[in-house]
Amino acid sequence: MFHAPCVRVQMRLRKMEALTGDACCQRTIRARLPPMRNPIIAALDVATAERALALAEQLAPVVGALKVGKELFTSEGPGLVRQLRATGAAVFLDLKFHDIPNTVARAVEAAVRCGVQMLTIHTSGGTAMMRAAEQAARTTADALGVEAPLVLGVTVLTSLDDAALDELGIGGGTAGQVGRLARLAVNAGLRGLVCSPLELRMLRAALPNHVQLVTPGIRPAGAGHDDQRRTMTPQEALEAGADWLVIGRPICAAPDPRAAAQRILAAGRF
Ligand code: C5P
Repeated sequence: MFHAPCVRVQMRLRKMEALTGDACCQRTIRARLPPMRNPIIAALDVATAERALALAEQLAPVVGALKVGKELFTSEGPGLVRQLRATGAAVFLDLKFHDIPNTVARAVEAAVRCGVQMLTIHTSGGTAMMRAAEQAARTTADALGVEAPLVLGVTVLTSLDDAALDELGIGGGTAGQVGRLARLAVNAGLRGLVCSPLELRMLRAALPNHVQLVTPGIRPAGAGHDDQRRTMTPQEALEAGADWLVIGRPICAAPDPRAAAQRILAAGRF
């Protein structure tokens, strides 16, 4: 079981070791990462527990984690998350919390009690909300004696363009807003962000090295794009600075999901 998920993290660890001459630096960084097998997160975008568990049975031994989103969670609830965890898979709970700090902190606490390794919140909830979420993740994990999950900040939804932001009274365009919210998130103590493949290089250059970047919009070379307009291959995304790759349909809608995940892993240098 690897704690460092990909080449990028290993490169960062080597860089830090070279800078500090301190091998224990590697242990410190690794201790902050959830223990996941590889950087592939399979998005279980299905409506029923039956379908999700069938996919989990095939994918848990192969991928790094399984992502549960709003549809599946709203249909099947925390019991399913616990069942998925029982397969041995790490779980990314992608519910994008956005509320007053106390409410988000209590939701994060509940997610940690379900045993998830990653979860999402909206950075537009502000500094106090993000701090409360990160604090709740750490405190609850400490109390349970487990590793704190990565609380990932979502900046600007990829469905919003400059005109849509303008309508909301936010000037300066999406790139400016993504950068602003990302810095706010890191200053509030978040250790990771979700971003589109196109934002990877900009965020990697702007943020401290320890910040984990999770990106959807990944398509294996030669695969169809479905409704994703701007995609990268797994290798391109890792080279651009991604730590974790969210992949849905190319794995879960394949005739043999496990074989599809294995092909993606075999094609990359994970
Ligand atoms: O099937 P596909 O690989 O396109 O699925 C991508 C997953 O990542 C879906 O669960 C989708 O909701 C999620 N996602 C995304 N784009 C974002 C944020 C999340 O595609 N900007």
